[in-house]
Amino acid sequence: MEAVVTETNVDPIARLIDFADREHDAFACVVGSSPQMLRAKALLARIASTRASTVLITGESGTGKDLVAKAMHACSQRRGGPFVNVTCSALPAHLLESELFGHERGAFTDAKARKLGLVEQADGGTLFLDEMGEMDLLLQAKLLRVLEDKTFRRIGGTVDLRVDVRVVAATHVDLRAAVAERRFREDLYYRLAVLTVHLPALRERCGDIRELASLFAQRFAREFGSPARVIAPAAMRMLEHHAWRGNVRELKNTIERAVLLARGPVLDVGDLELEGMASTDAAPSIRLPERGIDLAELERSLVMQALTRCHGNLTHAARLLGLNRDQVRYRIEKFRLSPERGRSGGCEPQMCDRPARHEAERVQQAVGRGHPLDADPVRARELADLEHGGQEHRGRDRAGRDEQ
Ligand SMILES: Nc1ncnc2c1ncn2[C@@H]1O[C@H](COP(=O)(O)OP(=O)(O)OP(=O)(O)O)[C@@H](O)[C@H]1O
Ligand SMILES: [Mg+2]
Repeated sequence: MEAVVTETNVDPIARLIDFADREHDAFACVVGSSPQMLRAKALLARIASTRASTVLITGESGTGKDLVAKAMHACSQRRGGPFVNVTCSALPAHLLESELFGHERGAFTDAKARKLGLVEQADGGTLFLDEMGEMDLLLQAKLLRVLEDKTFRRIGGTVDLRVDVRVVAATHVDLRAAVAERRFREDLYYRLAVLTVHLPALRERCGDIRELASLFAQRFAREFGSPARVIAPAAMRMLEHHAWRGNVRELKNTIERAVLLARGPVLDVGDLELEGMASTDAAPSIRLPERGIDLAELERSLVMQALTRCHGNLTHAARLLGLNRDQVRYRIEKFRLSPERGRSGGCEPQMCDRPARHEAERVQQAVGRGHPLDADPVRARELADLEHGGQEHRGRDRAGRDEQ
C-alpha cells in the first residue's frame, strides 16, 4: 500500500484549509492571476462547494493537478474527511485492484486477514486517482461501478458495500484519444468528463511566470538560508520568454537551482540554466568568442533562419527555437523582420501585429520597473509551509518520481 498511497494523513490538508481560510480564498495556494488561471480557479471553487461526486482534472505534467486536487478537497464540505491519493500507474493491475478494493480473508493465498481498500478508507472524503489514463481496462469497469452506484465488493467478497467518496481523477493523457484507441472505456470517460477542469500549460499563461518565479525565489531563499531572494529584470524577462515544457514544476526546479548556486542577493541571467540553453549539440556553436558577440544580431539571425527554414510557418519555427508562436511574433516585430523573407507567400502582417504589440508592451512594462522584483515574503513563507506539510509523505512514497 505504501507504494501508491501518497497521503492519508490529514495534516497537510489541515494546513491548506487554514491557509485558505486566512486568505479568504479557497485556492490561495494555487498561484496565478492570468485570465486562464482565474477562470480555472473560479470553476474549481464552484465545483468544490457542490455535491459533485466526480471531477476530472486535465493538464500537462507539472501544471498543478496534484496541488489543485488537494486544494479542492480542502475547500469542500468533505474537508474534515480523509484525502486518499492513489497513483494508478504505480502498481500492476492485480495489485492496484487489491489496494483499491481490499480483500476478504482467504481471497487468495496470501490473504491472511481482511484488508480494507483505499476506496473504503476514503469514505466521507476524497479519493484522488492520479494518472487515471494509465488504469487497466478491467479496473476501469470496477471503478465505474463505484462512481455510478457508490458500491463495490472486496476481492473474494460476496456482499456489496456502499461508500460515500468524491473521486477526483487527474490525467495528462488525452482521454478522448485513449477511448478512440480502446485503451480507455468510453462509459467511464463520459462519467468522468461531466465536470472537467483543464489546467493550462505555463507557456499559455506567461503572465503568471513573474508571480510564480518571485514566490519560488522567496521560498527557496528562506529554505536554504540564501540571500538570493529577488530576480533581476533581465533574468525575469528570460524566464517569461522560456517555453517551459515541464510547466510550473520546471520553473520551480529552475529557481531552486538558481537560488542554491547564486553568488549574490539578486538572481541574474547567469544564474539561470534553462532547458535547451546548454544542450550538447548546441553548446559548441554558441560558445562565446574572445572578442564577444552581438547578441541581438545573433538572435535576429537565428529567428530569421528558423523562419526561412520553415517557410514562414510560425508554429514550426517556434518549435525549432524553443519558443511559442507569440514569442516568435514578438521577435518578428522587435527585429522588424520582413515576413516575405520568411516564406514565399509571406506571413500576414495583421496576423503578427496585435499579439506582438501586446507582448512588446508586456515586456516593456517589465523593463520599465527597472529594479529587482519582489514577491510578498509572508505569502511565500506560508506557501512554502504548505508544501512542507505534504512533502514528508510524498518524499516517502514517491521517491524519484517528483522533485518535491
Ligand atoms: N499554480 C501553482 N502555484 C504554486 N505552485 C504550483 C502551481 N502549479 C504547480 N505548482 C507546484 O509545481 C509542482 C508540480 O505540480 P503538481 O505536482 O501539482 O503537477 P501535476 O500536474 O500533478 O504534474 P504530473 O502530471 O507530473 O503529476 C508542485 O511542487 C506544485 O506545488
Ligand atoms: Mg501529479
